[in-house]
Amino acid sequence: MSEAPNDALALATRHGLPLEFLYLREEYPRDRWTALPEIAAFWLQMHGSFRGHQAYMDGLIGQWREGGDLQVLHGQLTPALQSFLQHLDGHHRIESGQYFPMMRKIEPRIGAGIDLLDRDHDAIHGTLESMFQSGLAFHQAVAGHAPDAEDRARRLADILDGAAPLLLRHLEDEEDIVIPLIQLRGLPD
Ligand SMILES: [Fe+2]
Ligand SMILES: [Fe+2]
Repeated sequence: MSEAPNDALALATRHGLPLEFLYLREEYPRDRWTALPEIAAFWLQMHGSFRGHQAYMDGLIGQWREGGDLQVLHGQLTPALQSFLQHLDGHHRIESGQYFPMMRKIEPRIGAGIDLLDRDHDAIHGTLESMFQSGLAFHQAVAGHAPDAEDRARRLADILDGAAPLLLRHLEDEEDIVIPLIQLRGLPD
């Protein structure tokens, strides 16, 4: 499933979920998301770690852009990016492969909302692939003392800049569906 460029709900352009997917959050709004079931709390914790990880990489790039050392950027960003890509990919696989199908059964009315979240995963997967390729090219350029290492860093930094808003949008929109659904309908053990 790929996104049509004029899709009003495309991850790159939307500003939140459409109203028809927000009825669960209306019933269980964010300000009541305290004392959540364990799985919902864990979900938010995972999302928090992705936001933190993204902000950390953003900070490394910011320091480098302000005159930081390329070797330092390489030494810190490379392992951070590797772990970020691995964890995010694993997280999406579990969501799309296990939790989303379960949620469709429990709450068929939210099926179109789950479709949207699945499409987000496809869109984000494309950016993960670009991040991986660009991160690898940066690593190889630094390791091989290539003259274009700075340029490789710039390209990677631009890709990370572009990917961040997509990921952050998805995390928030997913929470608006998943957290109230778990609270209100429950998940089978
Ligand atoms: Fe997701
Ligand atoms: Fe998620």
